Amino acid sequence: MSAIIGLRDGVSAAVPYSPAKEKAATRGVYHSRSPPMRRRHLLSGARVKLLLAACIAFATLLIAGRIGSIMGWNPSPSSSVSSPSGGGYTVLINTWKRNSLLKQAVAHYAYCSGTDAIHVVWSERDPPSESLKAYLRKIVVSKSQSAYKPNFRFDLNEEDNLNNRFKPIKDLRTDAIFSVDDDVIVHCSTLDFAFTVWQSASDTMVGFVPRMHWLDKEKDGVAYYRNGGWWSVWWMGTYSMVVSKAAFFHRKYLDLYTYQMPSSIHDYVTRERNCEDIAMSLLVANATSAPPIWVKGKIHEIGASGISSLNSHSKTRNKCLNDFVSLYGTMPLISTNVKAVDSRHEWFW
Ligand SMILES: *[C@@H]1O[C@H](CO)[C@@H](O)[C@H](O)[C@H]1NC(C)=O
Repeated sequence: MSAIIGLRDGVSAAVPYSPAKEKAATRGVYHSRSPPMRRRHLLSGARVKLLLAACIAFATLLIAGRIGSIMGWNPSPSSSVSSPSGGGYTVLINTWKRNSLLKQAVAHYAYCSGTDAIHVVWSERDPPSESLKAYLRKIVVSKSQSAYKPNFRFDLNEEDNLNNRFKPIKDLRTDAIFSVDDDVIVHCSTLDFAFTVWQSASDTMVGFVPRMHWLDKEKDGVAYYRNGGWWSVWWMGTYSMVVSKAAFFHRKYLDLYTYQMPSSIHDYVTRERNCEDIAMSLLVANATSAPPIWVKGKIHEIGASGISSLNSHSKTRNKCLNDFVSLYGTMPLISTNVKAVDSRHEWFW
């Protein structure tokens, strides 16, 4: 502040008052004839003051946090913002031969107050054992915090097929589906916040793992796209998909995926055992002509990470993307830079 005032003083001392020049001076465009020594002195003074102000602000924030909790300003889990209204969501867990991870995931999501039901997509020839079923039912009841206990169910499929994870579910009570892998844990407060984001844009996919598509090259009028991973999103801040291993979407997309999406895409996913999430992203983008929403929030992957780091994996996924796009006849994905954050956790505006 004092730096600006100092400059202005210099200007008004040297030349007659002119509003245009004054404006330019405050923007630092107009070079006043005030001695450079004085300006440097003023700037360093300002820097010290700024540092001091930052220290004071930091201390104030720390104290405010304390006072806030005494005065009852602290967001408590029972406040209307954190406890989701409007029916909650159904957690749809995709699992495959990893019962210990499944147990952890079910126990965790049963604990979240927004969970209305937990459905486990089971894709093995042998149904889950009675002991596993009994164990999970018990854990859902014991972990649940609400008076109302979430429904728990296995959705059985004999065939191991990635399309299974998007099969329509009968007797759903919520419009919101939280689709998640058995090795992904999202904290309940983060999940509830993402749910409120979804509620304000319920046609859109809302998730925690953003991905980007890049136009690699165009040959003979045919575009070739590449999937951009975490690094490219981090570097550019741009994304066009959120991965269905941790994302909310409306249950109508289960119907659209299973009954409306071209069967050639189903066959592709079945054959390649991959890319169901890309198919879902394209489907939602084509239906909404809008980008998804990335929500800030940490996800915890509890299993050892599998195929996604392999090079052939990225080749397969690039091929999926391009083959699906050619089926659509156009690129339905839309890029965005929007990121939803919980303003209670953001200190600076
Ligand atoms: C894309 O959306 C349009 C309009 O909603 C629809 O007619 C078309 O069938 C969709 N394309 C695919 C491949 O699903």
